[in-house]
Amino acid sequence: MQATGQPTRSTSHTWAINMNAANEVCINCHDTEVDTEEHLEEFIDGQAVPFQNALAVALDTLLNQYNISYNKASYPYFYDLNIGPTSAVKDWTRAEPLPRPMREG
Ligand code: HEC
Repeated sequence: MQATGQPTRSTSHTWAINMNAANEVCINCHDTEVDTEEHLEEFIDGQAVPFQNALAVALDTLLNQYNISYNKASYPYFYDLNIGPTSAVKDWTRAEPLPRPMREG
């Protein structure tokens, strides 16, 4: 059950953090921070750069460690350069273990 009383999310299943997302998801935990458009904008603006940076690191790691490219304009978005630039990734496990910083412990 969503905060708005809906049984499931109907309009917030996108990347956009707008008032639909705020009312259906965020407000469950951040009631005063996302109650108006102005508050929502102030709340998320500070996180935008770190979020984009984290995505850039992830995509860079996929490309440089795993030879997997990302193209946001072309479904299914992730391509296995070991096979070819238009081959969708099928083997997400790869043969090599994860690099040390990504392992637990
Ligand atoms: C299940 C609870 C929950 C939901 C739902 C939730 N958050 Fe959070 N959020 C948290 C918690 C817990 C923190 C960490 C708070 C802290 O560090 O003091 C946090 C932190 C944040 C922060 C960082 C705040 C800061 O000052 O560092 C932002 C921005 C944020 N959430 C935005 C959102 C948005 C936007 C949504 C909806 C898309 C959302 N949250 C949904 C629990 C939630």
